[in-house]
Amino acid sequence: MRRSAPSGRTPAKDYAALSLEDIVKTARANPNRAGVFNAAAQVWNHTFYWSSMKPGGGGEPPAGKLKDEIGKAFGDFAKFKTVFAAATVGQFASGWGWLAWDEKEKKLVIQATANAETPLGRGFKPILTIDVWEHAYYLDYQNRRPDYVNAVIERVHRKPTRPNNVLRNRDAAELRNRVDRHRLADAAHGPLLRHRRQAAARQQL
Ligand SMILES: [Fe+2]
Repeated sequence: MRRSAPSGRTPAKDYAALSLEDIVKTARANPNRAGVFNAAAQVWNHTFYWSSMKPGGGGEPPAGKLKDEIGKAFGDFAKFKTVFAAATVGQFASGWGWLAWDEKEKKLVIQATANAETPLGRGFKPILTIDVWEHAYYLDYQNRRPDYVNAVIERVHRKPTRPNNVLRNRDAAELRNRVDRHRLADAAHGPLLRHRRQAAARQQL
């Protein structure tokens, strides 16, 4: 049997062999590892967020299972966008809006989670997410969170890549995709990065 660390924490070395998703699940189950959970879940959430949108994205999904399930759960795509935006905008303070597949009930659900919390590992398969931590939108949209959320919805990538696949698959095509996602990251958080660079420059004067 594996020995516990003196503090009751999972030994750090035990995380090294786990996938990112398994680190999220394992750390969530251990109250002494809130810090590990927050860090791992935020890496997962952000990686999934960047792959949830693309230039020229948006629009209704093509005929198929996703469109059918959206129709069953929400009526039609326009209604889905309204409900999804409302739930995401309504997340109090920092958090995330999600479209997820309920693996037990076999239906699409919308969730809003606080801080680093994620549907991952709680019986739901994330389909799409939007970051509503203030850093994601404040410099561009100030307090107009609804405008930011709708702007992301208009750029939705219908096939987000699960971070585990990104982190495990290191072939050339995947690496190109990762570079593209980092460009998206810079585009979305660019104003924040510029602000930090300007603040750092001011301190050096
Ligand atoms: Fe963020």
